Amino acid sequence: MTISDYNFAGKKAIVRVDFNVPLNENGEITDDTRIRGALPTLKKIIADGGAAIIMSHMGKPKGKVNPKLSLGQIRAAVEKALGCPVSFAPDCAKAQDAAKALKMGEALMLENLRYYPEEEGKPVGIDKEDPAYEEAKKAMKASQKEFAKTLASYADCYVMDAFGTAHRKHASTAVIADYFDADNKMLGFLMEKEVQAVDNVLSNIKRPFVAIMGGSKVSSKIGIIQNLLGKVDKLILCGGMTYTFAKAHGGEIGDSIVELDKLDVALDVEKTAKENGVELVLGVDSVCCTGYDFGTFSVKPGAQTKVFPSNAIEAGWDGLDAGPESRKKFAEAIKGAKTILWNGPAGCFECEDFTAGSRAVGEAVAQATAEGAFSLIGGGDSVACCTKFGLTDKVSYISTGGGALLEAIEGKVLPGVAAIKG
Ligand code: 3PG
Repeated sequence: MTISDYNFAGKKAIVRVDFNVPLNENGEITDDTRIRGALPTLKKIIADGGAAIIMSHMGKPKGKVNPKLSLGQIRAAVEKALGCPVSFAPDCAKAQDAAKALKMGEALMLENLRYYPEEEGKPVGIDKEDPAYEEAKKAMKASQKEFAKTLASYADCYVMDAFGTAHRKHASTAVIADYFDADNKMLGFLMEKEVQAVDNVLSNIKRPFVAIMGGSKVSSKIGIIQNLLGKVDKLILCGGMTYTFAKAHGGEIGDSIVELDKLDVALDVEKTAKENGVELVLGVDSVCCTGYDFGTFSVKPGAQTKVFPSNAIEAGWDGLDAGPESRKKFAEAIKGAKTILWNGPAGCFECEDFTAGSRAVGEAVAQATAEGAFSLIGGGDSVACCTKFGLTDKVSYISTGGGALLEAIEGKVLPGVAAIKG
């Protein structure tokens, strides 16, 4: 079943969204992208004459009630965005009456699903080494099914629209689907768009395909890098990863971030790139600093900045951004691309002094997009870069997924998709 074909008139739909949105200390939403992302699905349900039961997690309360992670904090914002009354059920597993009372054309939001350990389905308070662990796991799986069944009992149909959480095989993202027949479960519009965007960069590739992977660690990106090496024409590796590659070739990297246990992985990536005919583009110079405060994202008073070759950084200096030659190299590599994937910044973009690398990448991506490329941007930091540099409307698609997007691009089947599509 597809959401476009489904008529929600007179039906109650339980919709898994990812409203795990960032909040400030006053509980106010600082980025509502994920709420806006779910609106097309929720609005269709209401416009068809149906009712929506909205469910999500927020943060990681680890199976316990934590008022700081209450979805009650965002109810009013959701109501405003959706434009219909949104009531609130303070206990997601005891919402039968609220669901029954829900009127067509209205919505009901459930409290944080992760207040219940059954949502994630992992036994709590028992160590994996404990001989009783396997039994506890089995018992938890059984109560996870009961929990999913309870959620399912509130509604006539199920819509999975939480791309950000689609890589989790949780009660609300996957198990619940077993309690609906094929005609009454479907992906939401956001999921459809995200899955299509991933497909554009994994299967429906227009060449040249350029991927830009940034961020500090090779280890956290290696799965995706390996998968991309079989697909891309050019792979730009930037950000803190630069120094692990420089070090692997015996370069001097000063005080820059490095994963000394991943030097062989870096060399392996280079070897595979060569074997696959992929042009690997690494930064050649870096903007370095003698005193950067990673807590406040600022240069400490009296600290200096200077450009060094990325493999000849003096002791006491920390590589924090791509230098002018690297920026030129990155922009040239992106020029003319027809498919682009960008994940991870090229420097510590949170500080004005070190934005140039990420800005150069973002602007080159925007330029290529204007010339007909499909560009997919994913991961919190690269999305934040697009926002900061005013590029959100100049790229093709900004994903709401972090870990989920990475897993999808690694080529893994997301449980949230499999639950619907089989
Ligand atoms: C995210 O923010 O990436 C999603 O909401 C998933 O959250 P999780 O990593 O806690 O499952």
